[in-house]
Amino acid sequence: MNRISRMLSAMFTIALLFLFTVNASAQKISLKDLTVEYLVNPFSIDNPKPRFSWKIISTAKNTKQNNYEIRLGTSPKIDKVLWKTAVNNNQSVLIAYDGPQLSSKTKYYWQVRVKDNHGNVSAWSPVQFFQTGLKPEDWSAKWIAVEGKDTSLASPLFRKEFNLKKEVKSAMAYITAKGLYEASINGGRVSDAYFAPGWTSYKDHIQYQVYDVKQSLKKGANVIGVSLGDGWYKGRIGFSNQKQFYGDTRALLMQLEVEYTDGSKETIVTDNSWKTGYGPILTSNIYDGETYDARLELSGWNNIGFKENTNWKPVQELAMGPEKLIGMSGPPVTKHEEFKALKIFKTPLGETVVDFGQNLVGWVMLKAKGAAGTKITISHAEVLTKEGNFYTTNLRSAKQQNNYILKDGTEQVFEPHFSFQGFRYVKIDGYPGELKLENLTAVAVYSDMKTTGKFSTSNPLLNQLQHNISWGQKGNFVDVPTDCPQRDERLGWTGDAQAFASTAAYNMDVSGFFTKWLKDVSADQLPNGSVPFVIPNVLNQNDAGSAGWADVATIVPWDMYVSYGDKGILETQYESMKKWVNYISSVAKNNLWNTGFHFGDWLFYRPNDDNDGRAAVTDKYMIAQTFYAHSTQLLINAAKVLGKTDDVTKYNALLEQIKTAYIKENMTPSGKLISNTQTAYVLALQFDMLPENLRAQAAQRLVDNVRDYGNHLTTGFLGTPYLCHVLSRFGHEDVAYDLLLQESYPSWLYPVKMGATTIWERWDGIKQDGSFQTADMNSFNHYAYGAIGDWMYKNIAGINPVSAQPGYKNILIAPRPGRKLTNASAELETVYGTVKSSWTITGGVFKLDVTVPANASATVVLPKADKKEEIGSGSYHFECKY
Ligand code: BGC
Repeated sequence: MNRISRMLSAMFTIALLFLFTVNASAQKISLKDLTVEYLVNPFSIDNPKPRFSWKIISTAKNTKQNNYEIRLGTSPKIDKVLWKTAVNNNQSVLIAYDGPQLSSKTKYYWQVRVKDNHGNVSAWSPVQFFQTGLKPEDWSAKWIAVEGKDTSLASPLFRKEFNLKKEVKSAMAYITAKGLYEASINGGRVSDAYFAPGWTSYKDHIQYQVYDVKQSLKKGANVIGVSLGDGWYKGRIGFSNQKQFYGDTRALLMQLEVEYTDGSKETIVTDNSWKTGYGPILTSNIYDGETYDARLELSGWNNIGFKENTNWKPVQELAMGPEKLIGMSGPPVTKHEEFKALKIFKTPLGETVVDFGQNLVGWVMLKAKGAAGTKITISHAEVLTKEGNFYTTNLRSAKQQNNYILKDGTEQVFEPHFSFQGFRYVKIDGYPGELKLENLTAVAVYSDMKTTGKFSTSNPLLNQLQHNISWGQKGNFVDVPTDCPQRDERLGWTGDAQAFASTAAYNMDVSGFFTKWLKDVSADQLPNGSVPFVIPNVLNQNDAGSAGWADVATIVPWDMYVSYGDKGILETQYESMKKWVNYISSVAKNNLWNTGFHFGDWLFYRPNDDNDGRAAVTDKYMIAQTFYAHSTQLLINAAKVLGKTDDVTKYNALLEQIKTAYIKENMTPSGKLISNTQTAYVLALQFDMLPENLRAQAAQRLVDNVRDYGNHLTTGFLGTPYLCHVLSRFGHEDVAYDLLLQESYPSWLYPVKMGATTIWERWDGIKQDGSFQTADMNSFNHYAYGAIGDWMYKNIAGINPVSAQPGYKNILIAPRPGRKLTNASAELETVYGTVKSSWTITGGVFKLDVTVPANASATVVLPKADKKEEIGSGSYHFECKY
């Protein structure tokens, strides 16, 4: 039965159409997306109280969970229940285990059922599992490395043949490396992950991975084969050709635990019984690429029947380092989209270049056939010069080149193993015979995060901007959030990460990704509380403490809390957040943070001929003071959530002093700021630095400034993320839209008009005359300015988290159409399920369709309406005059 109800608001007619079909007899609920610590059936859970989540699917409207039951045991049928709980509440996200202490390396099975507010009871969910990680004393494996000094640039291979006496019931492989590893059993890769064990603050902790390898093993002879690359551990990383930052020796640690069908057990570990040799990878490193000589391939080396010749040497066992081994918590890096070559052409300089149509991060899989010894070189570039030539100067010293040397006349497919490239174009040298489109495929490689957001509008340029934002994210979420993926940098720049984190959480599920990285933020935070420019920190110890960069320590935990409702992140990061705020207090004088080095509003608008003071320079200490306030506010927010009332009182008092000091130092009595820039007003308003009565005039000064620049933004990394938010908040939606839809430089759409397929580092990476910005800092894949995505989801589509009920338990749906947009539509997969908001404007009527997942609720505010509608789960239709 369709129920249509209409509601009238005082000013506008709001038609609320309940299109939702309710069939009373078929009100059933079921559960989906069951996870432990954000992961489906994970293998290396270190948290002693792992947290369970599920989503409820219901055909009825207004569905809420009334209670839940969880049961857990150690057998797949859970016949013996080790822990059960039945709780009357509507919590369905991140519920902590609360039973007897869990044992290490043990598989636990669990299931859940729920009852809703309509009296429906779900079936018990299918049984899920999680496996606990290893305790330090569970490791009997030894770190192994090549004998003597590890000086060869080539990738060492490690090999172990072993015999399994009986039928295998289960087998788990625990593996990690200093460097990067690619592991195989009986010739097959143990997983589809790349760049394992991932990049962490290795001096503090190294992740290990766990693989279920039962299917690869058999009774009788078996072989493990592992090759190692330099990776971030030993290879070139950071500036000035820095190498061996974490250590000079690549090493492997592996433990294979087998259980036979009769219950007896066997463990195979790395130790001095293993053999090592060298194979075809002659060099590999993150920035420069890989050289692979197929003539050195050792056919069958990682399989049985291979005869080790005298080139295979014994390994040496290494003493365990001080670093902790921790189970992997984030997503692995895997292959994703493939791109066919679109065009092969000769440039004016006569080079053979291939266009894949998308700036991406990963590599090219190249098919080739030719005489032994033929060397093919693939070079990578993001852009062509205005003359149409292949351009690599902006890569600085990164070679980004893969070399393949053919072994014989057979056809082979090549790809790198321990390196990735950022590119849209490749240049091919030395290819034997005719290079055809089908010989090349580009594959995007990034952390395996689920796409959670979709966003589109009636404006194709905006849709391309959204595309570019999401490709900026893919390319720079390769295990750590990096500034760029192509030049000799690729570092976890904290300023960029804090600017982009909330946008990232719309586009993809970044919960596990940032949870992992925040451990590094804590680990690399300096003893005095300061936070390094990059995490993991590979720069100097005192390269730390820049406003808007170091504030990542408070901003990202809070963003993750709001996006995923994860109180645990706040608990874990609280000390780090507090240490950071206390650090600022320790260097502040009279409550003013006016010391130290700051990057400031990085890459703000700076015209060449600046005779009229058009450059939008914002005083750096003024900026620092606003971030001091912001970080303090976020610490207070976290303290409130965690019930730390003393801290709430203490830091509230501090916050007041910070704001008073700001005003005294930076504002005239009439409300003008010492830097008359967009960023100055944006930060002052976003972080509530000004007294209430002076905010509207400050917002007007911001508007005047934007108008004065002909509706152009002039903000850099720090002002840009908040620019449109502040304009919207103070009622200047039209100005926000003017900026967003601006097509000439500087603007978000200027690069789009210039053909960008990712977000650029600079507003004018390619200038209007087609020439490039300075080559020493001109990345074409830098996500920071993509932070506008947050505003697009929140304001255009209108999907907003509500921090009082985080994780979209309650959602504010408040779309604000503007200028000539006639429709917009977005979806977000939240921890409760899918939220949808989609609107059109036709014939002066604004029509909105909203979907709210079960166990969540929403507040809907129609454009220009003064009334709010509270709705429960289900799908709804609204209309109003517009
Ligand atoms: C990086 C940035 C970073 C900046 C610090 C650059 O080299 O690419 O994105 O935030 O340095 O200002």
